[in-house]
Amino acid sequence: MAAASPSFFSQTLIAWYHRHRRPLPWRETTDPYAIWLSEVILQQTRVRQGLPYYLRFIESYPTVHALANAPEDEVLRLWQGLGYYSRARNLHFTAKQVVTEFGGRFPESYQGLLQLKGVGSYTAAAIASFAYREPVAVLDGNVYRVLARVFGRHENIAAPASKKVFEQLANDLIPAAEPDTFNQAIMEFGAIQCTPVAPDCLFCPLQQTCYAFQHGLVNVLPVKEKAKSSRERFFHYLVLQHENGLYLRKRPGNDIWQSLYDFYSLETETRALPPETLQQQAGHLLAEPATTLVSTGKVYKHVLSHQKIFAQFYLVSLPSRLREEQLENIGLQLYSLDQIEALPKPVLIDSFLRERFF
Ligand code: ADE
Ligand code: SF4
Repeated sequence: MAAASPSFFSQTLIAWYHRHRRPLPWRETTDPYAIWLSEVILQQTRVRQGLPYYLRFIESYPTVHALANAPEDEVLRLWQGLGYYSRARNLHFTAKQVVTEFGGRFPESYQGLLQLKGVGSYTAAAIASFAYREPVAVLDGNVYRVLARVFGRHENIAAPASKKVFEQLANDLIPAAEPDTFNQAIMEFGAIQCTPVAPDCLFCPLQQTCYAFQHGLVNVLPVKEKAKSSRERFFHYLVLQHENGLYLRKRPGNDIWQSLYDFYSLETETRALPPETLQQQAGHLLAEPATTLVSTGKVYKHVLSHQKIFAQFYLVSLPSRLREEQLENIGLQLYSLDQIEALPKPVLIDSFLRERFF
């Protein structure tokens, strides 16, 4: 069976939509303000939970002027229960922006709408297509899923780089005559028919042309692999100084910065270095009671692909060289500044040295 042609796909979806659409108030209007309001609420919650919020907002503030002039407390109160209150503050801010910068009229194109705070490509496409019938495709989770399945796209939808691929595909499919209906239809189809779990393939009008169905890949597509979340690590470097030299060590091979040189370090789970940790782990290196150590103040940050390093430095002046029994197994050696200059070091260590020593 051949893949769906653009017109077959869009006409089938639109026919399906006319039979299955839920009547929702923001689908009965072309007022960009009402559409924007509904989309902001629906980014926060599902249709069923969002509907009463939408109705209360549009009743309290029928126009963007009304919302712009409302007291912030009142806006937050109406938002109460939706969570993520910065969205409510942004909503209010954007309403004021439309009034003050645009004379109370929403910009009338996709590109123009992108100038509004908090309006990204999804919301701009929704408003531009629903309010002005501009043929620009919306891309939300529903749309990614439908496209990945029907057209057999295996790109990871969680990877930012895939956005272009799906955007291109969706914009090739959107019919110029009814971009608004197409966008509503594909989102509704994803929400009701081609659901994430157990889509209704048996009674699906796209079944014959659906790549995922025909290849037994309905449970595989869309591919969604989240990047490993970034881990935060807190390093505390003891910069042990003796006369004009500093103690450094070559980093072992089982962690980041393998074979580069840095200082004696302690790692903690949180930003602070508890005095007990310092005393326990480094007390034997310090001539004075360790609790008196104070960081140089600045936190140096280094972002790697799966971790963020936050480093602080503590300068320790040693009256004499460290003895063998103090150094046992920790690999520290005393280097002159000239020697240190020549050693390979993590950038963060190099920056610190430059600011303090070179
Ligand atoms: N979710 C986001 N936008 C929507 C819309 N316009 N209709 C239904 N559900 C939606
Ligand atoms: Fe989605 Fe199944 Fe229809 Fe394909 S056949 S579009 S997977 S509901």
